[in-house]
Amino acid sequence: MNNLPKQTVLIVDDQESIGLALSRLLSKEGYEVLLANEGEEALDILRENKVNVILSDLKMPKMDGLRLLKASKLIKPEVEVILITAHGTIEKAVGAMKDGAYDFITKPFKKIVIANMIRKAIEKQALVVENKFLHEQLAHSGHDKHADIIGQSDVMRDVIKLAEQVAPSQASVLIQGENGTGKESIASLIHSIGTRSDKPFIKVSCAALPDTLLESELFGYEKGAFTGAVNQKEGRFELANEGTLFLDEIGEITPSIQVKLLRVLQEGEFERLGGTKVLRSNVRIISATNINLTNAIKQKRFREDLYYRLNVITINIPPLRERREDIPLLTSHFLKIYQKKNNKTIDGISEDVLDILTDYQWPGNVRELKNVIERAVVLTQDRVITQKDLPENIVRSRSEDRKITIPFGMPLREIEKKIIIETLRRSKGDKEVTANLLGITPRTIYRKMNSLEEVEKQEEDVKINS
Ligand SMILES: Nc1ncnc2c1ncn2[C@@H]1O[C@H](COP(=O)(O)OP(=O)(O)OP(=O)(O)O)[C@@H](O)[C@H]1O
Ligand SMILES: [Mg+2]
Repeated sequence: MNNLPKQTVLIVDDQESIGLALSRLLSKEGYEVLLANEGEEALDILRENKVNVILSDLKMPKMDGLRLLKASKLIKPEVEVILITAHGTIEKAVGAMKDGAYDFITKPFKKIVIANMIRKAIEKQALVVENKFLHEQLAHSGHDKHADIIGQSDVMRDVIKLAEQVAPSQASVLIQGENGTGKESIASLIHSIGTRSDKPFIKVSCAALPDTLLESELFGYEKGAFTGAVNQKEGRFELANEGTLFLDEIGEITPSIQVKLLRVLQEGEFERLGGTKVLRSNVRIISATNINLTNAIKQKRFREDLYYRLNVITINIPPLRERREDIPLLTSHFLKIYQKKNNKTIDGISEDVLDILTDYQWPGNVRELKNVIERAVVLTQDRVITQKDLPENIVRSRSEDRKITIPFGMPLREIEKKIIIETLRRSKGDKEVTANLLGITPRTIYRKMNSLEEVEKQEEDVKINS
């Protein structure tokens, strides 16, 4: 990872000599070093600089290391904090681990121990998700045919199990799910593990084509059936004979095609456009939709009899945001695909990026995630994917959580109150940490709020409104 930018350590110690000694040591180790001799100064530095690790003394006169830890986790949760403690305060340091400290080290310490610990904390940030998750995945995917479908969440396991159960039958399957959830992938899985796997799998995108074109795609046409029909053409029903026909976006087809489709499904018969000869086709139908067909039936846009023909078995694929456990695995899967495709070596993605990906709403589901990873692999200059390789809207949706919105024209007094209340809320009511973050004393908090009751009342309001 030599081509990575320099990593930065912020050292916080009230004893100047110790701060300087640590600073010399870590500079020698190749880190960028920033130095503060008390907590508030450290928070200022943290706000304005890129920091990877904070190395702070636990016991300091004004703000101690524990509060610095809590405050820094509110400002920049991705920064790892290591606390330095003397023997008497080990218990406190252990407690700090629960508040998110990476580790602690007891005085007197060896240089090598500090250097190793910092290196590990930084490695944790640039977490190599790839190896870890790929191993898990290999352990679970017994079947070769499943290799392209990743999913360890309970809901996805159910989807895959249902697909496996219906595959050997000839029953028609309707797959429902939002855009990009993997409907086509599941359709193709069903075909490839079913009895027709050595016969064709033919897809028709019903939404992409205007009516007459769709009709000629499905059923074919005879020479001279319409202007431009210079040769006879076989339709998809013929091409898919003995195999599987995948009707994508079935919800979009017009009533006239619905009637024709119903006839093939009921009788197995159809004619080419402009033809009179009755043709027969033996196909298994799998269809997919991202609209709710039951609603479409109620609105008389979709024939109920056709629906029952298509829908002997329904498979619902849940949106990605309802199976976030799958995100790390999918990420690592796509990382592997795209680094190979782009001839790049990527060691992994940083932990904060994984957090962002896991929290995001994914309106475009798996396809969107796939595109985001491809883009990141193409863009990244390092061997680790970091926030700067993500699209801005995804990073922004995350950082909105760390903002307080002030309406234009709000009186200064109210703004102060709002900021205090929000900070209290985010620090789970810790008044000391709130005071430190805002650079005021705990007493000032009360003064600004008029009365304690008001603090509590406002806190209640915040709870109700959020
Ligand atoms: N569980 C999964 N594991 C691995 N890749 C997946 C998974 N689900 C979807 N994909 C990938 O995401 C992309 C979108 O999947 P697919 O085309 O199957 O979704 P879809 O529901 O048919 O989408 P649309 O509604 O846009 O037609 C494909 O490139 C597919 O390979
Ligand atoms: Mg699709």
